[in-house]
Amino acid sequence: MNPNKALWEKGDFTRIAASMRESGEALVKGFEIRKGLKVLDLGCGDGTTAVPAARLGADVLGVDIARNLVAAGNRRAEQEGLTNCRFQEGDATDLHELADDSFDLSVSIFGAMFAPKPHDVAKEMVRVTRRGGRIVMGNWIPNDPTLVAQILKISSAYTPPPPEGFVSPMTWGIESNVTERFSSAGVPAEKISFARDTFTFNFPRHPAALVDEFRKYYGPTMNAFEAAEKNGRAADLQQELEELFDSQNKSQRKDATTIPATFLRVSVAL
Ligand SMILES: C[S@@+](CC[C@H](N)C(=O)[O-])C[C@H]1O[C@@H](n2cnc3c(N)ncnc32)[C@H](O)[C@@H]1O
Repeated sequence: MNPNKALWEKGDFTRIAASMRESGEALVKGFEIRKGLKVLDLGCGDGTTAVPAARLGADVLGVDIARNLVAAGNRRAEQEGLTNCRFQEGDATDLHELADDSFDLSVSIFGAMFAPKPHDVAKEMVRVTRRGGRIVMGNWIPNDPTLVAQILKISSAYTPPPPEGFVSPMTWGIESNVTERFSSAGVPAEKISFARDTFTFNFPRHPAALVDEFRKYYGPTMNAFEAAEKNGRAADLQQELEELFDSQNKSQRKDATTIPATFLRVSVAL
């Protein structure tokens, strides 16, 4: 089994994605979507960005490595009667089922960053997007003080070191790496631009309950807890995460969670 696929099929990312809907929708509003625009959402999960793009009239294909998330995305599209939005399985490192120049806009929000072989990912995104089209990526930033970078940082202290040659997904949050990867795929550096943006996690219960959602349903956190349990350190990990979520919570209500997280928005004009 492909470990990348196993990681994301292990949990149920729809449980986390439920807290990301408002920001997904807001982000898509900035994409200047017009009816019939051909959009690829790569590493789409259950459609946090694919579904709102389809609501705005785009013709959307969501591609994700996790079978359960593809099924969840198709269910959402069906429930909303969105005949212009479909989801299928695929791997960002090898999109052989997609023809060259198929899309006007290829989006990957915290998706393709988690695929191994980042140079292959950049090459595939460029290949399937037409000249004159755009690529937009949202990538978490290593060592950023906000939520997701800190979850991954804390978790890494409880997990065994990755195998030799492993490229951290967080390197997609470093501008020079992104430029080098798209340059290798034939894109001139001046066509690549960067901005800091914010994604807010909204959850209708207190922060510790959101930690529980990550512990039960978010593959990377599930793995961290499994490793911590083996060393008798699960309670420490739980406490560190609860402190993190509490300290980042901006909600005025005690029984609700609103946590903004900073990410790197990458725009590539082809
Ligand atoms: C953090 S989730 C984000 C999902 C979605 N973009 C969202 O914002 O809700 C990461 C997603 O990337 C997918 N993914 C990871 N590696 C992938 C790969 N090699 N090819 C395609 N999708 C991948 C996972 O299955 C998961 O759905």
